[in-house]
Amino acid sequence: MEQGRVPYQKIVFVCINARQPQETCCAHRDSEAIAAALKERVNALGLARWVRVSKSGCQDLCAKGPNVMVFPDYAWYHGVALGDVERIVQDVVRGLSPSPVSSPSP
Ligand code: FES
Repeated sequence: MEQGRVPYQKIVFVCINARQPQETCCAHRDSEAIAAALKERVNALGLARWVRVSKSGCQDLCAKGPNVMVFPDYAWYHGVALGDVERIVQDVVRGLSPSPVSSPSP
């Protein structure tokens, strides 16, 4: 085993867990598209070196999904829609230190 140092200041976990068709889960509420949009926006802002967008398994709040956790902020967004991506990115950028960009533009 080797041990390294995590190079990211923030990690954004997007639940993409998929359950049976009749069950409630984030995947049935567009969470894959939300994860892709978050990643695309982070890349477009040149933040990929500092911010990692990662798909996650169930965050145990399925009924409130799609769910997005941000570490080390301990921010937990529920009922996320594609229209919320910019707000989440702005929150993430605000906490970067030193901030690589002043603020994202829409
Ligand atoms: S399926 Fe996303 S929190 Fe459970």
